[in-house]
Amino acid sequence: MATADSLSSPVHPAWVRLSHWVNAIAVIVLVLSGWRIYNASPIFAFHFARDFTLGGWLGGALLWHFAAMWLLVANGLVYLVANFASGRFAVRFVPLRPAEIIADLRAALGGRLSHGDVTRYNAVQKAAYVGVMMLLIVAVVSGLVVWKSVQFPLLRVLMGGFDNARIVHFVAMAGLVLFFVVHVVMVALVPRTLATMIRGH
Ligand code: HEM
Repeated sequence: MATADSLSSPVHPAWVRLSHWVNAIAVIVLVLSGWRIYNASPIFAFHFARDFTLGGWLGGALLWHFAAMWLLVANGLVYLVANFASGRFAVRFVPLRPAEIIADLRAALGGRLSHGDVTRYNAVQKAAYVGVMMLLIVAVVSGLVVWKSVQFPLLRVLMGGFDNARIVHFVAMAGLVLFFVVHVVMVALVPRTLATMIRGH
């Protein structure tokens, strides 16, 4: 039951909740419009079913993609700066020890991982959330190379060239989709975490 004390200090402050949902919407729009853009010039021997894409045609999908990209970058910067400046990152996501990740992963797979305390992330959650932050940074940087290859020669070289940047961008997208599926399944298994990300408590 919520106590007066637990209600005065939310599990997730309002700026975390707001930026989380803005981020989730931006990623969903980016992935669905990205699939439509990919279909116009596939790099692998398959394309995405049109019904699961956004934008209708290449030009429309590009408009959605860039709009959501600016949203993701602006919102992501606010989230990261606020997280580090407030010290929340150090409290919530550090330390991140491989031995603890493996132990918690084993416990989770065996159904033995406790979700009693929603104010702390276990090592698997920490790794997944820090991992998805890094994945989003890779997606943005590789996307920048695909978009403005000539203007960002150093980034292009770091990405192994334009063609490779497209593959890196695709792999980052695949990682995000994998994260999304596992993340939503985990939330469905522990639904009270959803209340903390909506109402704070
Ligand atoms: C691709 C889209 C998404 C990304 C990148 C994402 C990323 C994240 C990250 C990084 C956190 C930790 C935030 C922090 O504490 O600072 C988080 C937490 C959370 N997310 Fe998402 N998320 C996404 C979509 C969703 C969706 C669709 C749902 C709802 C079904 C959801 C529900 C939650 C909940 C409930 C938490 C808190 C978990 C807990 O307290 O144990 N997320 N998400």
